Order: sequence, then C-alpha cells, then structure tokens
Amino acid sequence: MVRADTLDGGHRRYARALPLARADIAASAEQLLDAGYGLWLVSHDSVLAQLDRSPMGVEVATLDFLAPHDRPWTIADLMRVYNVLNQTAFGAKGIPLQNWVMIDLGLLPSAFLLVTLSPQRAAEAVTDHRVSAAAGARIASVLPAVLGEAERLGYTGPIPVAGYCAARSPIPDGWVGWSLCSAIPGLGTTAKGLALEAYRASTLTGVAQFSDPALRVHRKFGRMRLLAAVLELHPVAGTMVYRTEVFVEDEPPPEPTEMLGAHDRDAHRDLQNRLDAGAEIDILPPGLVADRVPILERH
Ligand SMILES: CC(C)(COP(=O)(O)OP(=O)(O)OC[C@H]1O[C@@H](n2cnc3c(N)ncnc32)[C@H](O)[C@@H]1OP(=O)(O)O)[C@@H](O)C(=O)NCCC(=O)NCCS
Repeated sequence: MVRADTLDGGHRRYARALPLARADIAASAEQLLDAGYGLWLVSHDSVLAQLDRSPMGVEVATLDFLAPHDRPWTIADLMRVYNVLNQTAFGAKGIPLQNWVMIDLGLLPSAFLLVTLSPQRAAEAVTDHRVSAAAGARIASVLPAVLGEAERLGYTGPIPVAGYCAARSPIPDGWVGWSLCSAIPGLGTTAKGLALEAYRASTLTGVAQFSDPALRVHRKFGRMRLLAAVLELHPVAGTMVYRTEVFVEDEPPPEPTEMLGAHDRDAHRDLQNRLDAGAEIDILPPGLVADRVPILERH
C-alpha cells in the first residue's frame, strides 16, 4: 500500500483540478454543436416525454425508434452502427454490447445519448493529423469499423462517435449506467454528463475496473462510494461496483488514506474485507493516477 502522503506534489495538484460542474458539461456540449457534432437521445415517445430533452439548456434532438421515420436513413441502421462502435470500443475487454441488451435494457426502458458526426466528417476524423499520436491511435482502433458498418449497410445518416446509456432502478432518481464508449477522445465525459442530466439522475451505480482509464471519466461526476471492491461474478478481473452522487463533492476535498494498487488483487480483497466489516470507502479524484487509485476510508 502506498500512503497518500508519499505522493508527489504534481499528483496532488492534479487531484485538485476537479470537480466537474454541470456548466462544464453544458459548455462542452455547446462547443460540440458549434463544431458540427450532433447530439441525440434515442428511445421511444413515452420514455422521451419523461426525460429532460434540453439538459442544462443544450438542445438534444430526439429519435423514436418505434415510430415511422421519414428520413433517408433508418434508426435501426443508426443503432446497428452504434452497436459496432460499442462492440469495437469494448472489444479489447471482451464485453461487447449484445443487440438484444441494447434494445431490452437501453432503448425500451431508457434512452441512448449519442454524439454523431456526418459521414464525411467522421471519415475525415480518421485521417486528422492535427490530433496527438495517442488520440490518432485510439481513433484508428475504433472509427474505421464504425464507418465500415455504415458502408456495409448503405447507411447515410449521422455516424455515432460516442454514446452512453443508463437504466432506471427502483431507487428514486437512481440509475445504473453502462455502455459508455467514444471513438474520438474528448467526447466521453460530455456524453455521460448530458445523459445523466437528461435522465435527471441523482445517483448512478456502475461497474468499472480499478485499472481502467475510464475511471477518470467516472470520477469527474461526483462522490464515488464503493459498493463492492471485488465483483468475482464479472468476467473482467479487477472489477468493482461504485455509486456516484451525481455532481456532489466533499468540501474541502479530503486527503486519500491510501493509494490502492490498480492491479493489486490482494489489496482489492483486503478492501472488500474492510467493506464487509462496515467501513465506508470512497474513490477520490481523479480516480486513477498512473497505476494507483486514491482511496478514502471512513469508519
Ligand atoms: C472510456 C472512454 C469512453 C473515454 O472516452 P473519451 O472520449 O476519451 O473521454 P474524455 O475525453 O471525455 O475523458 C478522458 C478522460 O478519461 C481518461 N481516459 C479514458 N479512457 C482513456 C483511454 N482509453 N486512454 C487514455 N485516457 C483515457 C483520460 O485520461 C481523461 O482523463 P483526464 O481528463 O482526467 O485527463 C473511451 O476510452 C472508451 O470508449 N473506452 C472503451 C470502452 C470503455 O471501457 N468504457 C468504459 C466502461 S467502464
């Protein structure tokens, strides 16, 4: 275990760069609209009527996948292309979204928040030399498959380049999130934030891996309590269960009591034992620092 007080100042300053606010999500969504991206909620009428379709004042277009559609492309093909985005992004983890899950647990009880580009702009993004080498590699690992599926289908509509979905739980305003994916770095946080606002979610339960850089996205959304430090049932090693209080942060920001090894399974089991013994354990910002997760334990 590495104690928090052994961290260098750089890590501490970085951890203080949070929290993210609703206004940050709104500003970044407006920037995306100005830059030619599309923002959509895809579900059906009776669910869409319950959602905030202009979260934080950002206009999000809606699509009813059960209704007649008079555009030259179909919503079924849009969602098939999204499915390939998701399957490709999650492919390395081996947990691609099944088509029936997308329908039964996403489109019917909830709504997908999609960020899109025109086919031409999406194709240009694959060869955009203005992005960093790392971002270019991430784009090249996902977007060509998405464009390939659109071509295979003869689909000419907006190309999904990021998306998110959460489903309602019996907990009032409590949602269970899954399926965050992005083909172009810079979109994931905005997709998740807009969706949470559209759902009017106040708590969000989800699973993630301690070693996943996506933890940095998840931790931006507020106080993150561990419900389980070890989820043996999950097919990916190092998976935990968390619950976020959306846009709620501790003030002043607490100091970590521990820097958890992201790959240290023994330390994860030890954390689980302490949870079982009644400890309250939070993941602190920024979620992941190199190979460590800042942890706050309360008794
Ligand atoms: C997770 C994911 C959606 C992030 O998308 P994104 O567009 O890069 O997200 P953003 O640009 O808004 O946020 C980036 C933040 O996440 C971190 N991050 C997330 N995924 C990352 C990756 N693959 N590589 C590097 N950094 C990543 C960055 O460090 C950054 O953190 P910072 O702002 O504190 O520096 C994307 O990487 C993805 O699709 N991953 C595969 C699917 C997946 O694992 N989903 C999450 C399931 S729990």
